[in-house]
Amino acid sequence: MPTSDIAPKDRLIVALDLGSVEAAEAMVARLGDSVTFYKIGYQLGYAGGLPLARELADNGKKVFLDLKLHDIGNTVARGVESIARLGVTFLTVHAYPQTMKAAAEARQGTALKLLAVTVLTSYDDGDLHAAGYRLGVSDLVEARARQAQALGIDGLVCSPEEAARLRKIVGHQMLLVTPGIRPAGAATGDQKRIMTPARAISAGADYLVVGRPVLEAADPEAAANGIVAEIAQALA
Ligand code: C5P
Repeated sequence: MPTSDIAPKDRLIVALDLGSVEAAEAMVARLGDSVTFYKIGYQLGYAGGLPLARELADNGKKVFLDLKLHDIGNTVARGVESIARLGVTFLTVHAYPQTMKAAAEARQGTALKLLAVTVLTSYDDGDLHAAGYRLGVSDLVEARARQAQALGIDGLVCSPEEAARLRKIVGHQMLLVTPGIRPAGAATGDQKRIMTPARAISAGADYLVVGRPVLEAADPEAAANGIVAEIAQALA
């Protein structure tokens, strides 16, 4: 099971995978109080989404900046310092030891929490081999999860299928954040390894990242409320 002291509503992170700040602002307004946590990734981040991240944080929302940083340590550290000043809650970095160490040191004394991406879920063993890696996906995920924990990273982004195994590896000291969530009956889109909100929570996920099932719903607020209800039921 997940870490316990988070309200069901605050465990839903809606991915603002939209092409403009105007579209994102309209969605946030439409979702109102039903959603407390938003993810901003490459698409919106590079389309003016960073001032929006600050604005959302200033307005009492939590923000997950999914920028997956990876560079030389000094550059990562300076980037993390700037991002911490935006007032966001979560930031992703790739799980390379130098990158994680630099990011963990740079965010000290701030409220920013760091999430490591172990191995991108679009990679299989063949992709890792082609990229020059010796380990397969399963072993590399485990090795990087352990390194992330040792370096003081707060959590991991993982598929819901990996959550139960990672929970055993890292215990309850780390947050597990899972995309690939589909409420029963929702279109799967390009996601292949999906779980319902309830099953992901039961597998040990702390936070669920959901994009299209909310953004593309006829009634996004009702869709968000439905997911939160399912989370609450799984935790009860
Ligand atoms: O629309 P959907 O619910 O599939 O969106 C999921 C979000 O989680 C997207 O922003 C996507 O980039 C992100 N994500 C993912 N799978 C990963 C990592 C991130 O779907 N392994």
